[in-house]
Amino acid sequence: MTLAAADFRTDDVAAVLGGCGHDVGRPSLFICEGVLVYLDQPTCARLLAGLRSRAAPGSRLAVSLAVHRQGVASEQVTAVANARRASGSAEPWQTILPLGAHLALISRAGWRVERAIDAVQLDAEAAPGRTQLVTALSGPRD
Ligand SMILES: C[S@@+](CC[C@H](N)C(=O)[O-])C[C@H]1O[C@@H](n2cnc3c(N)ncnc32)[C@H](O)[C@@H]1O
Repeated sequence: MTLAAADFRTDDVAAVLGGCGHDVGRPSLFICEGVLVYLDQPTCARLLAGLRSRAAPGSRLAVSLAVHRQGVASEQVTAVANARRASGSAEPWQTILPLGAHLALISRAGWRVERAIDAVQLDAEAAPGRTQLVTALSGPRD
C-alpha cells in the first residue's frame, strides 16, 4: 500500500496519483468517504474530474454526500449544520446540496452515475435524508 499526501484545494490529484505509482491503465476503485463535504464546490469538481482522468474503463467511484431536501438554501443548511457542530469553525462543512445538484456535479466531471442510496438503507441508525452513498462508473467512454 502507498500513502500519498494531498491537499485537494491546491494539489492536482491526477498528478499525485501519477507520481505515487497509480496504474492509469487498470481499473480503479476511487473512494471519497466523508470528504467532499469538507471541500468547496470548485474543489469537489476538480477532485472528481482529476479522479476521472485516472479512471481506466471499468473503474468505479464511490462517494458519500451530505444532502438536504430541495427548496431550502444550501448556504443556510450548511451554516445551521456548522453552528451545531463542535468543529464547525475549525473544520467547516462546505458542500451540502440537494441530491440532484450533487449528481450533476459528478456527471459534469465525466462520471456516469450508477446508483444512489440513502445511508439509512445500510445503517438503520443513520439519519434519513442526510447522507447519500453514490457509485459512478468511468463514463460513456467505457
Ligand atoms: C470525516 S474524515 C473522513 C475520513 C475517511 N473516510 C477515511 O477513511 O480516512 C474527513 C477527511 O477529509 C480530509 N480532508 C478535508 N479537507 C481536505 C483537503 N482539503 N484535502 C484533502 N483531504 C481533506 C481530512 O483529512 C479527513 O481525513
